[in-house]
Amino acid sequence: MNQLPDFRLETHFSNWEFNSRHHLTASDAQSMSLQELLGYATAEERAEFENMWLGYTETFGAPDVRDEIAKTFTSCNREHLLCFAGASEGIFAANTVLLNKDSHTIVVTPNYQSHESLPLSVCDTTGIPLDPTDNWSLDIDRVAASIKPNTRLITINFPHNPTGAILPLDRYYALIDLCRKHGIYILHDEIFNGLGETGTMHLPFVADVYERGLSLNVMSKAYGLPGLRIGWIACKDKDVINRMEKLKHYLSICNSGPSERLTKIALRHSEQLLARTCAIVGCFFQPPH
Ligand SMILES: Cc1ncc(COP(=O)(O)O)c(C=O)c1O
Repeated sequence: MNQLPDFRLETHFSNWEFNSRHHLTASDAQSMSLQELLGYATAEERAEFENMWLGYTETFGAPDVRDEIAKTFTSCNREHLLCFAGASEGIFAANTVLLNKDSHTIVVTPNYQSHESLPLSVCDTTGIPLDPTDNWSLDIDRVAASIKPNTRLITINFPHNPTGAILPLDRYYALIDLCRKHGIYILHDEIFNGLGETGTMHLPFVADVYERGLSLNVMSKAYGLPGLRIGWIACKDKDVINRMEKLKHYLSICNSGPSERLTKIALRHSEQLLARTCAIVGCFFQPPH
């Protein structure tokens, strides 16, 4: 990988996030205290957290935590999952493992910068803008026209940051069919899945519906717990999971044990947590008085 460019968004946060009176550029729902999260826990769950062993944990992620994460999917189990330090480490691992200098990638724009900077630092990359005149949707014919013989990966993000757009289901399946035909992986940043107005129709997780799909998710956004730094990628291609696990030996090695326990508690009470964050975000959907 060549030298990476400045991550301008995160540099902005480094400079301002903890120095400004009002933080108006966050993409995570308002978080909560440890005490508030533990307030959701049963007596046994709380005891498990308090009595936990502070040693290393498994590189893939603690098995019981992966079991809990697997319940968010319809057809993935713990063997399809690898945990990361936030979504960011997962984005780095997926791009590093899937791409080399001879690859070509397609990314939607605008995007969270690493989805674009990482492939650009490795290989030929085409950006396809979402269409503001079409509800910020993705033109699948334009994707098809951009595919080259060496296209290896397409990265998408729905609900999309920053527009909130969700791809219509028929276009999503058309994209999957296209990728299946050409043997292309899809990295789907699904970290806002679950967040939205009541009745929002979210897309199925890509790992559930596509054998070369990488589902990226994290506790940071819809669950409102970015400080836990627990994210994951689910993929039914075991070779991809295993190669990313080997790369993780050079990165965080394993996740924070206390964060894994707290993630398990949060996911066991996910309905309440998601209702809480949707209610917070819901204020922004109300018409002004
Ligand atoms: C679309 C998107 N993907 C990934 C990330 C990184 O998430 P994390 O902070 O959990 O690493 C962000 C953070 O803002 C984001 O907005």
